[in-house]
Amino acid sequence: MDYKKVVAERIKELVEADVEFIEKFIEIPPMSEMGDYAFPCFQLSKIMRKSPTAISSELVDKINKIGFEKVECLGPYLNFFVDKAVFSKNTIEKILAEGDQYGSSEDGKGKNVTIDFSSPNIAKPFHVGHLFSTAIGNSLYRILSFEGYNCIGINHLGDWGTQFGKLISAYKRWCDIDALHREPIKELLRIYVKFHDEAEKDPALDDEARKYFKNLEDGSKEETELWNTFRELSLKEFQSVYNILGVKFDSYAGESFYSDKMDAVVETLEKKGLLVESNGAKVVMLDEYNMPPIIVKKADGATMYATRDLAAAIYRKNTYDFYKSLYVVGLDQSLHFKQVFTTLKLMGYDWADDCRHIGFGLVRFADKKLSTRKGEVIFLEDLLKESIDKTMEIINEKNPELENKEEVAEKVGVGAMVFTYLKNGREKDIVFEWKEMLSFDGETGPYVQYSYARGKSILRKVGEISGEIDYSKLDSKEEFELIKTLEGFNKAINHSIDKFEPSVVTRYAVDVAKAFNKFYNAHRISNVEDISLKNARLKMVEAVCQVIKNSLYLIGLEVVEKM
Ligand code: ARG
Repeated sequence: MDYKKVVAERIKELVEADVEFIEKFIEIPPMSEMGDYAFPCFQLSKIMRKSPTAISSELVDKINKIGFEKVECLGPYLNFFVDKAVFSKNTIEKILAEGDQYGSSEDGKGKNVTIDFSSPNIAKPFHVGHLFSTAIGNSLYRILSFEGYNCIGINHLGDWGTQFGKLISAYKRWCDIDALHREPIKELLRIYVKFHDEAEKDPALDDEARKYFKNLEDGSKEETELWNTFRELSLKEFQSVYNILGVKFDSYAGESFYSDKMDAVVETLEKKGLLVESNGAKVVMLDEYNMPPIIVKKADGATMYATRDLAAAIYRKNTYDFYKSLYVVGLDQSLHFKQVFTTLKLMGYDWADDCRHIGFGLVRFADKKLSTRKGEVIFLEDLLKESIDKTMEIINEKNPELENKEEVAEKVGVGAMVFTYLKNGREKDIVFEWKEMLSFDGETGPYVQYSYARGKSILRKVGEISGEIDYSKLDSKEEFELIKTLEGFNKAINHSIDKFEPSVVTRYAVDVAKAFNKFYNAHRISNVEDISLKNARLKMVEAVCQVIKNSLYLIGLEVVEKM
């Protein structure tokens, strides 16, 4: 039951204002002594031509109080105290009845949302920034789908551009074929770095690379085959990361997919008189918007990253008729997306306003130096493995008897990384620190997963719940706070959608775990003599587990039954 709505409806019965208007002003009081919901009557002064205090004392007598323990007026405020017994019963029964669907809705029905996320570059390492994008994108995908939106996950692979000319040149000169098949990305990175070093000494190499890319763009067989090999080998490596994370895409249309769709874009730009020549290049001037020009075609005729994004945006609109089109990409590309969206608008596409750059911050490591130059990169798979290994050490220490340890270490170790990415507002920079992120009692993935396993262990010990259940006995402060938190799941989800912020759901999962542990530390469960109270508590624990499971699912984590 949405109490806020109920409060608004009850007030509406007595005044000339609509429910939405009233609901907007309903507050959650800072202290529970002031009730669970409060309505400040100032808002009605104008309509009712009375002082706020006169209104509150008039309304308090007339208002329908069913479902509420009491309604009081305090100065200009009308304070509502929900009937805890009804509230607890409704909430817990709803959670248990809806199960894995608890928190979901049909709000987004009929609306398509494209989510461009992860989008690593072929022949380059999948780096910590791509993992950030992957974690956010995957979570938004799950959250929006849960609320009924039809999501299309797109991996906009960096599989086109002049760097492929360089790679072909480097391949022909220095590639170690065995190494390429053993560790493709490492070898491709090695020869790519070597190309840059050598080209510094011999600029003719750059001309050669340009020629190869031109051949590739013209569809020449040899270059195309090589490009295909690089792409396939890289994708295979990326796929293993996606498998570990449980991430899926609906489309792998990367930059190369638009190679035959860019002429049309250039033509439209030309027709609209938006293209200007600048040192031989074709650009769209954006001075008016305080931005540098967007380069559509270089002097040598080659297209750019931005050109492909223009083509991709139009293709996505035509193909998916999106309601929103999201781009989960680092904040360092903010200008790029502003330029692209502004250009689309100039082209006359009003839907450009539905395109949103979902930016995120930088990633640093407390205990590692991170540098992408000189080939000294952190490989993501190594990082995930390290997290899993470290989790295994903790398990071996805390619970050496645990069965299926490998599986648990993987779910918890990988989850801890994803959780760390998602727990703060996405625009904040992140510092990774093993000790902190793997801790079982901080605001971490392992902490939330551990709370779930604790709940499950209580339920396992008791077995079948039978006999009377009296929810009105869940009347302690800890119990009511916990149930109130459980009831707020859908609100947290909506809030997270409004801001495209998985962190809201992540924090919510922590709140549930915290409220549960507070309850657990203050009250007994399985050895309570009063059966109807014991059963009510057990049902509540069941509900807690369900809500933790659902919220973790929405951020891309799995629960474990024991840990
Ligand atoms: N491949 C790019 C990178 O690694 C990200 C692509 C993001 N998506 C887009 N449509 N531009 O930086």
